[in-house]
Amino acid sequence: MNKNLYIKTYGCQMNVYDSLKMENLLKPHGFNITSNEKCADLIILNTCHIREKASEKVYSELGRIKEKTAGKKVVTVVAGCTAQAEGEEIFRRAENVDIVVGPQSYHNLPILIQKVKEKQKWVIDLDFDEVKKFDQIQIPDHPHVSSFLTIQEGCDKFCHFCCVPYTRGKEYSRNISEVYRETIALVAKGVKEITLLGQNVSAYCGRDNNDNLRGLGWLIKKMAKIEGLERLRYITSHPKDMTEEEIFNVHQQEKKLMPFLHLPVQSGSDRILKMMNRQHSRDFYFKIIDKFREYKSDIAFSSDFIVGYPGETDADFNDTIDLVQKVEYARCFSFKYSPRPGTPASVIGKQVPEEVKSERLEILQNILREQQLKFNKKFEGQSLEVLFEKSGKYTNQYVGKSPYLQSVVVKSNVNLIGKIKNVTVTESGLASLNGELMEGNS
Ligand code: SAH
Ligand code: SF4
Ligand code: F3S
Repeated sequence: MNKNLYIKTYGCQMNVYDSLKMENLLKPHGFNITSNEKCADLIILNTCHIREKASEKVYSELGRIKEKTAGKKVVTVVAGCTAQAEGEEIFRRAENVDIVVGPQSYHNLPILIQKVKEKQKWVIDLDFDEVKKFDQIQIPDHPHVSSFLTIQEGCDKFCHFCCVPYTRGKEYSRNISEVYRETIALVAKGVKEITLLGQNVSAYCGRDNNDNLRGLGWLIKKMAKIEGLERLRYITSHPKDMTEEEIFNVHQQEKKLMPFLHLPVQSGSDRILKMMNRQHSRDFYFKIIDKFREYKSDIAFSSDFIVGYPGETDADFNDTIDLVQKVEYARCFSFKYSPRPGTPASVIGKQVPEEVKSERLEILQNILREQQLKFNKKFEGQSLEVLFEKSGKYTNQYVGKSPYLQSVVVKSNVNLIGKIKNVTVTESGLASLNGELMEGNS
């Protein structure tokens, strides 16, 4: 009998990848995907625990779902990082939850659902068994033109503000052959771009067929040889790991590797970097940025920033602004520090008042916005190679991504999805560029 699955995803790309895997795992068990929770027999919230707001959202969503599905038999699952961090507490706070499953055990969902059917209450699985999870991977029939592929999970860095080492566990890298097989299968189904994912993808260390350990640069070189795969990206890197010559070489030599790098620095103050346990200085960060620019002059950068880390002074914050001005980013993400239970930073005395955090965030975001606008404007009148991923809002409109991850919108009478075309940029904004297909393209 056919049943409907509604799945809502919070957080990072790794959760997007995991949600897709859960869908594909459950389809053979008779589940069709629905975007309407009212029709659902199974609801999964794939949660994020990174900031308080993100994890609290889940409880309000659970309340809403309870109202919407009142009187219906629905199995409700909380998966992902909040599930891992809060465990049984979730059942206590939201009585309509049937299953709590951590990010490393969702391959057990069919069994867990069966247990609920057998009238078990509070079914929970928070095991850390990455290998089994990856064994169960199914390739979707129609994957996205630009797909994610997890190659590494977990984190051993233990930045003092971050919950990820506790929710995703120890660093684990998948074998080269496994990653390769999944890539080949995706490319055979029309995927043109793959983003290699890991909480700490720069710490990738996977075994090849001869049992040698290989790093990210080596893997990218191997993957770039796959015919039909046009573009490669990777996210997220830690500056401390970016020391191998291979990674700089691969950026210089592999045309398929896009010239855009997310390299989070979090703060521009040496004092705060130390307190955060980031394990590198601001000078070290500048050196890495300079070296990438030396090897690949057109490379662009993005970063994450946290403002209002416990003990952050005006002088520390000014160091962050100074770093931003020196690096000049293409785009960035910035957040107010949010204390996470169980992390060392949450128990430091000198928490920064909320108003100060808000003030600093606004100043930083204004500068980052200006930099993003400036970066985008640079392309007006220039040509960019765009990989088209989807239709736009209007008829005959298509949206794709530039090498620098900018959204580019064009008009075309022919379907462009899955194609790479040269586009002349006619107009630039903060979030996207408008363009025209260059002659001879369509
Ligand atoms: N592995 C990545 C980031 C993972 S989390 C890295 O090393 O950078 C994504 C981003 O969320 C982080 O870069 C950080 O900027 C932000 N973040 C993590 N914990 C946070 C917290 N407690 N408060 C506010 N922002 C946080
Ligand atoms: Fe969190 Fe730091 Fe690990 Fe990134 S490197 S996931 S910020 S602990
Ligand atoms: Fe959030 Fe977990 Fe990703 S905490 S950012 S979903 S690794």
